[in-house]
Amino acid sequence: MGRLAMQQVEWDDVQGLVLTGYPRLPKAAYILWRMVPGEAQKAKQWLGNLAGRVKAAAPIGFEPEDKAINIALSEGALTKLGIDPQERARFSVEFLDGMAPLPPPQSTHTVSRRSSQLGDVGGNAPDGWLWGGPSRNTEIDGVLLVYAKEKALDELIDSECRLMTGVEVLHCADTSKPLILKAYSRGDRKEHFGFRDGISQPFIMGTPAANALSAKQARFDAVKPGEFILGYDGEREDSLGAKPAAGAAQRGRVPPRDLLRNGTYLVFRHLEQNVAAFEQFVADAAMKVHGKDDQPSREWVAARLIGRWRSGHPLVDPPFAEKENSSARRPRNDFLYHHEDRFGLACPIGSHIRRANPRDALGPDPDTSLRLSKMHRIIRRGRLYGPDGVRNGADNGENAQGTRGIYFICVNADIASQFELIQHTWLNNTHFGGLYDERDPLVNNRDGEGVMTIQQRPTNLRLEGLPRFVTVRGGAYFFMPGIAALRALGT
Ligand code: HEM
Repeated sequence: MGRLAMQQVEWDDVQGLVLTGYPRLPKAAYILWRMVPGEAQKAKQWLGNLAGRVKAAAPIGFEPEDKAINIALSEGALTKLGIDPQERARFSVEFLDGMAPLPPPQSTHTVSRRSSQLGDVGGNAPDGWLWGGPSRNTEIDGVLLVYAKEKALDELIDSECRLMTGVEVLHCADTSKPLILKAYSRGDRKEHFGFRDGISQPFIMGTPAANALSAKQARFDAVKPGEFILGYDGEREDSLGAKPAAGAAQRGRVPPRDLLRNGTYLVFRHLEQNVAAFEQFVADAAMKVHGKDDQPSREWVAARLIGRWRSGHPLVDPPFAEKENSSARRPRNDFLYHHEDRFGLACPIGSHIRRANPRDALGPDPDTSLRLSKMHRIIRRGRLYGPDGVRNGADNGENAQGTRGIYFICVNADIASQFELIQHTWLNNTHFGGLYDERDPLVNNRDGEGVMTIQQRPTNLRLEGLPRFVTVRGGAYFFMPGIAALRALGT
């Protein structure tokens, strides 16, 4: 894997999902597949042919109108495809271990260190997962990600499944149904709790979108390609993405087969959302805080959990945020915390967005903080599953638990210092930003024991008894190869 200059990203070899979430293709399906024992050769053929159908990131800015296909492999596939130990060793430890490894045999712990760091314990423990955990539907060798327009999805799934050779769609051990996870995005980009999502994403330096950023926003939002694509410089000198393969330091001298080059890692978490619990908590908390649970009082509480109003406008922006329902302007994302809201009086320090990306508020000073934050960004490409639009409607059974959530998908070059760091050191950290004994209010509170402080003068407000709003139901780490690497795997 050669060390390439930032502006020379080989976009035609990078899978499209790195640069776009395919906004014009609202339907998606994540097809979990495994290799058929003894049919590795056929599987290779399938992968090689697939390389011709996979959507590349180039031409940049061109959004596919009818369909897009991307693919990612798990560690199991690499082994079964027979890659040699030297090549295998170049993949990251987190990927090779998997998202939910078993604790070592001699250990007395019931979950592995990784699960414990990710917060995958208790109700989130991999033992209870529908897929990817140790007990059910474990043998996942990869995921085929297909995107289409409204009615064309089933046709695309069918045609792609028909083309599979040497691999098969995994079938759920309990229901015998194929593990084809169908998902969608809403026109207004809201997730099930009713918040506009996907607003804050890093921009990869050198792309037209990054070049168009204001100088202020570029300082924290324009991130070097190596943070998201293997083979390029990242924000750290020693970043994984920049590590050259032995004997291949220069462009043009890369070995003919470099499986990592132009690839990235894809983190997939099946996150179930308990919308009824969220709404109930917000109403109860509004009653405690404001003495009433009318809509504005509830919205006030809900916004503090996230750090943005449901419309997406950030709390650091009070004059505009008051016009909560106005959609006249795109939600602002060029804000920083140090000067605008150092003490969390507008956007609570423990709110979801402030934990997930502390921007310039990590300490010890804003500049260092920005430099550090840039090393821990992810590109989110998740989509919703389950029934849509019943949040405030009558309960016709669709509000039942277990029916909807987010397939959280993110892209990063270094799972440990990007996704895992965010999850562990920021979202799960009980002492984040000087707080005490509280976790991310949205994704990491413990059943009924969650706490959140809302900074206020003269005294802080403390919300208690936060239930579990989000439960992990499955997940896996995947590697999304570059297109040439996919072709090489196919030979
Ligand atoms: C069901 C689970 C989740 C829901 C409903 C959710 C919802 C949201 C919403 C509404 C926003 C604000 C919109 C935006 O800035 O794009 C947001 C931002 C964000 N979330 Fe989540 N999220 C969930 C899980 C996670 C997880 C597990 C992570 C990472 C491990 C994460 C990382 C982020 C990041 C990095 C941001 C952007 C923060 C910023 O740059 O200001 N989220 N999320």
